[in-house]
Amino acid sequence: MKLCVALDLPTLEENLNLARALKSENIWLKVGLRSFIRDGEKILSELKQINSNFKIFLDLKLYDIPNTMADASESIANLGVDMFNIHASSGKRAMSMVVQRLSGIKNPPLVLAVSALTSFSEAEFYDIYGEKIEKKATKFAKDSYESGLNGVVCSVFESSSIKCATDKNFITLTPGIRPFGEDSNDQSRVASLEVAKKERSDFIVVGRPVYKSDDPLGKVKRILENLQKG
Ligand code: C5P
Repeated sequence: MKLCVALDLPTLEENLNLARALKSENIWLKVGLRSFIRDGEKILSELKQINSNFKIFLDLKLYDIPNTMADASESIANLGVDMFNIHASSGKRAMSMVVQRLSGIKNPPLVLAVSALTSFSEAEFYDIYGEKIEKKATKFAKDSYESGLNGVVCSVFESSSIKCATDKNFITLTPGIRPFGEDSNDQSRVASLEVAKKERSDFIVVGRPVYKSDDPLGKVKRILENLQKG
């Protein structure tokens, strides 16, 4: 299992300082909407300068018509990031078109589909999708798998059942992790490292429990030690 730290701090300099503090660690970094809208490509190049081995997940959650998504995906691939995501609810036609467009690119990034946002409660999710989270998330995962994507973003609670419904190598990336029982903040479906391991998550995303900690490097080391224990 890999650790992906969310760079969700208010300024470029704070995000880069966090990356500098963590530069000795074998981790992924997640650049999200806030940072990318504000800082653009600059944050990506600066992160690679801090440590060229940092793997970067660009979390922009694309959702648009198929052709626009394919165009945007090609532009993202040309940025040289290692992974990005799109919404599964954009549909199989859009997802397949993204996969097809990336097939012509050398070393394309991994593409994941967002199934259900981890901030949704059952009631909120039902209001929008008219189904229970687990059932719909599994359907979204099957659609993504059949469209040729590499995996999905989901809560840990769906990770194992998604692998059973698709393939054990189909990647699950799970945000909403509170490694050692930290505050859940605005997340509804949070889980600890133990649950993430049990549910066979491939990537855990951790934001506030790391960057709001007094000692982000110490927290990351503790998480990695725990993951290595298996
Ligand atoms: O601070 P916290 O650990 O809750 O951060 C989780 C990160 O994962 C945030 O950057 C959030 O945007 C992202 N994310 C999420 N749920 C998803 C997809 C991404 O929380 N389904």
